[in-house]
Amino acid sequence: MDLIEKRLIERRIIFSCLALHTPSTFSSNNQTDFLSLLAMKKSIDVDPNGALNSWNRTTNFCRWNGITCGRMHPDRVVAINLGSEGLIGSLSPHIEIGLLRRLEYIEFSNNSFFGSIPKNMSQCKSLVYVNLINNDLSGNIPLEISLLYNLQSLYLGKNTFSGHIPQTIGNLTSLGAISLRLCGLIGEIPKSFSRFRRPSFLQLAQNNLTGTIPPVGKIHSEIGSLVGLKHLRLSNNNLEGPIPLSIGRIFNLQILELGGNRLTSRIPPVFGNLTLLYSLSLERNNFSGTIPTSLANCTKMQMLDLSINNFDGPIPQEILISTVCNFLDLSHNALTNSIPLEFGSLRNLEELDLSNNKLSGLIPRSLGTCVSLEGLYLHDNLFEGEIPKELSSLMGLTDLDLSLNNLSGSIPSFLGNLNLSFNSFQGRVPTTGVFKNTSAISLEGNIELCGGILELDLPPCTSTSVASKKKNLSTPLKIGIPVAGVAAILCFVVFIYKRRTPDKNMPYVPSFTGIRFLSLSYADLLKGTSGFAETNLVVSVCESIDFRGNDFKALVYEFKAKGSLDKWLCCINSEQEGEFRNLDLIERLGIAIDVAHAREYLHCGIDSIIIHGDLKPSNILLDEDMTACVGDFGLSKITSSIPESSSSSTIGIRGTFGYVPPEYGMSNSVSTKGDVYSYGILVLEMFTNRRPSPTDDSLSENGNLQNFVSAALPNRVMEIVDPLIRMGPHMIETVSWKIACALL
Ligand SMILES: *[C@@H]1O[C@H](CO)[C@@H](O)[C@H](O)[C@H]1NC(C)=O
Ligand SMILES: *[C@@H]1O[C@H](CO)[C@@H](O)[C@H](O)[C@H]1NC(C)=O
Ligand SMILES: *[C@@H]1O[C@H](CO)[C@@H](O)[C@H](O)[C@H]1NC(C)=O
Ligand SMILES: *[C@@H]1O[C@H](CO)[C@@H](O)[C@H](O)[C@H]1NC(C)=O
Ligand SMILES: *[C@@H]1O[C@H](CO)[C@@H](O)[C@H](O)[C@H]1NC(C)=O
Ligand SMILES: *[C@@H]1O[C@H](CO)[C@@H](O)[C@H](O)[C@H]1NC(C)=O
Ligand SMILES: *[C@@H]1O[C@H](CO)[C@@H](O)[C@H](O)[C@H]1NC(C)=O
Ligand SMILES: *[C@@H]1O[C@H](CO)[C@@H](O)[C@H](O)[C@H]1NC(C)=O
Ligand SMILES: *[C@@H]1O[C@H](CO)[C@@H](O)[C@H](O)[C@H]1NC(C)=O
Ligand SMILES: *[C@@H]1O[C@H](CO)[C@@H](O)[C@H](O)[C@H]1NC(C)=O
Repeated sequence: MDLIEKRLIERRIIFSCLALHTPSTFSSNNQTDFLSLLAMKKSIDVDPNGALNSWNRTTNFCRWNGITCGRMHPDRVVAINLGSEGLIGSLSPHIEIGLLRRLEYIEFSNNSFFGSIPKNMSQCKSLVYVNLINNDLSGNIPLEISLLYNLQSLYLGKNTFSGHIPQTIGNLTSLGAISLRLCGLIGEIPKSFSRFRRPSFLQLAQNNLTGTIPPVGKIHSEIGSLVGLKHLRLSNNNLEGPIPLSIGRIFNLQILELGGNRLTSRIPPVFGNLTLLYSLSLERNNFSGTIPTSLANCTKMQMLDLSINNFDGPIPQEILISTVCNFLDLSHNALTNSIPLEFGSLRNLEELDLSNNKLSGLIPRSLGTCVSLEGLYLHDNLFEGEIPKELSSLMGLTDLDLSLNNLSGSIPSFLGNLNLSFNSFQGRVPTTGVFKNTSAISLEGNIELCGGILELDLPPCTSTSVASKKKNLSTPLKIGIPVAGVAAILCFVVFIYKRRTPDKNMPYVPSFTGIRFLSLSYADLLKGTSGFAETNLVVSVCESIDFRGNDFKALVYEFKAKGSLDKWLCCINSEQEGEFRNLDLIERLGIAIDVAHAREYLHCGIDSIIIHGDLKPSNILLDEDMTACVGDFGLSKITSSIPESSSSSTIGIRGTFGYVPPEYGMSNSVSTKGDVYSYGILVLEMFTNRRPSPTDDSLSENGNLQNFVSAALPNRVMEIVDPLIRMGPHMIETVSWKIACALL
């Protein structure tokens, strides 16, 4: 009897596990995956984040951190995801890895795995994705890797392998994405690559590969070809010979990077077939001949870098008319003739480098219409005549080098009287022209400037501090007569974020105060607002000096969909009533807390304290989910880090009457305490929906909002609470006033 009962129970357990698809180590007969993972853990010596803490016998292995089991095979591991965990250990002893027969996905990037890739991995026939980028792996890439015939993505970059790329890699005909960048590989690029059926990304840059570029576009014995390739990156190797003509067949190509090799000969006219190409880098090679006009067919071209080669002849006008370049570098060649007027049509152009050529004639006025231009390098050519006044309309220009030409005439006035103080200018300060006169320029607060005349007391330039963004010239740019200027429009956007982290893609620059400002270039602004179209005007703080010496000011705000708080408190007697509903108690409370957080953030900065100076409902902006942000820092004062009690400052007091504390009227100083006062008024206003004096008539007998509220405390609270707060009365009494009063 006992035995039967026991079996029944066992059955029920197994049955229910299957039904729920909940894998359980101990209900399964097959523990191979469990054991191989345990062995894997054993060979990991350092686990700084405790990523493997859950890898123990008491927890089902399918619930271990980074482990995913299959749906069809609930006791088999299908994915191991342990990227960026700081793990240190050897991969080689993982002979057991070969037992993970259902494994499809390995993510081990950004760790410190050492040793070689285990050959036994080739038994994981289900593998589709392998990412071992950025580890310390060494040895050869095992030939056996070609047995993983399901593999679609193979990322092995940033390791210290040695030896060749296995020829047999061509057997992995399903491979679509391959990265072997910075892997210390030698030898030739296997021709077998062209057997891939669905290639998309091929990244072999920064190795020591030699030989010629194989006939990439050739159709390989009816099996496949690289025709589907979108990105081909072979830069910084030792490849030689010409670009194969068959490249014209890879008509899907979008990015081609061949820079930093020893390639020769002309750019083949077949590039005219590559109409989807948007980035072409052929820099630092030994290409020669003219720049083919067929590149004009590449109408999507955004980035064209042909610098440091032996190109000669004129710059084809056709390219300038039909492409949409924002980065164009033709420097260090032997280009001749004058610059075509058509440059003016490249309205997206952000950087133009034509330096170190044999270009002659006038600098075309039409360059003044490339309004997005940030860097203009025309030095070391044979240009003559005057600097066109039209360049003064390039308000986003941060770098201008016209030295080593035959330019004549006076320094245009727009380059004079530069007040460049407190911006984030970077690079070398010229020593000539206006820059000789310390009383004519002000460069204070630009931490990244270097050079200049001795009186400016700036640090000397190193070659990296002047090299431009996208290239690494061995010699620093030469700057000489007549003039080379630096100017930038830099916008500071101050915003207090709560509940959400700022967009990681946005560049942040640390400023002199240690507070993080969002930096936007003039060009970004220009684009973002479609040329400052009025329809896009929300207002917006950006302050700088343009080339004419005029102030350029803009205040930039993140768009807050729900508008400002005052609009939400005004409903009772407003014609906009429909748009703004009543805020309920919880929403009002949430806003009060958001603003309290923002105030704390401003006042308790590590390096500096910001006194807002004008806290009021119209400066509180609400976003889609009613999260409040504090805006309008027009009157803000940034002070150094000093204790709050003594933190006061003397600026003109211009806060809003009713919200600023009475003492602001007597002395000329603002303080963090003043902000606290304003905050208190704000809270009272939010819960009573009455304006502070003198605008609200109903307050007349008590004079101001504080007196009005304190007269009602503690017994008549319900009489002064905003009747529009949508919530039961006792809730209001128990919640809102306790909190509101506590805040005061
Ligand atoms: C576990 O699974 C592997 C591969 O599927 C198989 O070779 C092995 O025989 C199984 N072991 C048991 C005990 O069922
Ligand atoms: C096993 O892992 C679980 C989940 O992380 C944890 O709660 C438990 O304490 C661990 N047990 C041991 C013995 O370490
Ligand atoms: C590895 O690091 C790179 C570069 O920092 C990052 O882009 C990538 O997302 C990281 N990978 C993982 C899995 O964290
Ligand atoms: C790993 O590979 C070796 C040969 O390279 C083989 O002898 C061994 O059995 C394999 N181990 C497993 C677990 O598959
Ligand atoms: C690769 O494929 C070829 C045939 O295309 C075959 O002869 C060779 O044995 C394969 N190599 C491996 C390692 O599978
Ligand atoms: C250009 O591309 C087409 C496919 O779009 C291809 O048939 C043709 O052979 C290519 N021309 C050259 C010169 O490669
Ligand atoms: C440029 O494109 C057109 C069609 O868009 C095509 O007829 C011409 O052959 C291309 N030129 C080159 C050089 O491939
Ligand atoms: C570059 O090519 C030219 C011929 O076009 C040749 O004379 C010269 O030696 C080459 N330079 C290098 C560094 O290979
Ligand atoms: C230097 O600049 C100041 C202010 O712009 C000007 O008054 C002065 O004449 C200049 N000195 C020289 C030598 O140009
Ligand atoms: C620039 O070149 C120098 C040596 O010429 C090198 O040390 C440095 O790493 C390079 N920088 C980049 C970003 O490539």
